[in-house]
Amino acid sequence: MDKAKRRTVIAGNWKMNKTARQAAELIDALIPAVQGAGCDVVICTPFTSLPAAVEKCKGTNIHVGAQNVHFEANGAYTGEISAEMLTDLGVEYVITGHSERRQYFAETDETVNKRTRAALAAGLQVIVCVGESLTQREQGVTEELVRLQVKIALQGVSAQEMQRVIIAYEPVWAIGTGRTATADQAQEVCAAIRRVLAELYGQDVADATTIQYGGSMNAGNADELLAKADVDGGLIGGASLKADAFAAIVAAAGK
Ligand code: 13P
Repeated sequence: MDKAKRRTVIAGNWKMNKTARQAAELIDALIPAVQGAGCDVVICTPFTSLPAAVEKCKGTNIHVGAQNVHFEANGAYTGEISAEMLTDLGVEYVITGHSERRQYFAETDETVNKRTRAALAAGLQVIVCVGESLTQREQGVTEELVRLQVKIALQGVSAQEMQRVIIAYEPVWAIGTGRTATADQAQEVCAAIRRVLAELYGQDVADATTIQYGGSMNAGNADELLAKADVDGGLIGGASLKADAFAAIVAAAGK
């Protein structure tokens, strides 16, 4: 339960927002606002803004990520983007398994695993998202479900590669709804995720892995969530689209 053993990471998931020009404007505002942050800072922009984002963030403390990646290296996969295409641009991170991709784009635990492995093989850092729906929470299966999602997502991922894996716990009912999980609810599931990591890789790897919370996290609730022993950062949607709101969360994480 030693937070000093792992990185605190605040990542913005911009989802399908901002043109490349708007992205550049937001980054111009973000750079001074998060300069000297006491945690790692990542922004995951749409594919179309990645070149501009990488260029703008060079020499700053902001790292750039994508929101999805295909698992094949190349070929007849119309509309898809490979891991090598991302690393070639200078992108360092990618999100896999976001609930919106599971819900709207037929993402399964198996494809999350394939994407995660392809991204790791290419040298990317991967933010793997897991989380239960409201029905699943009400059915009392949250822990089993999240354990299963973690186990399948990480099939074939080595202990060494785990140094480049972050797990994001995002309860689906808390995403974009303004209904945040309580700090205790977030802690309970993040601790369960760390237990499953310990079963898979041993306690040292589990203790060294960053586990984020995501779902309506904002400047007002960040302190309480981040104070929890197993909450090592946040994956921020709505509040990452405004420089001041995102910077306030970064500041809370750096305390
Ligand atoms: P919100 O912060 O808008 O609830 O989104 C969370 C999220 O899905 C981040 O990936």
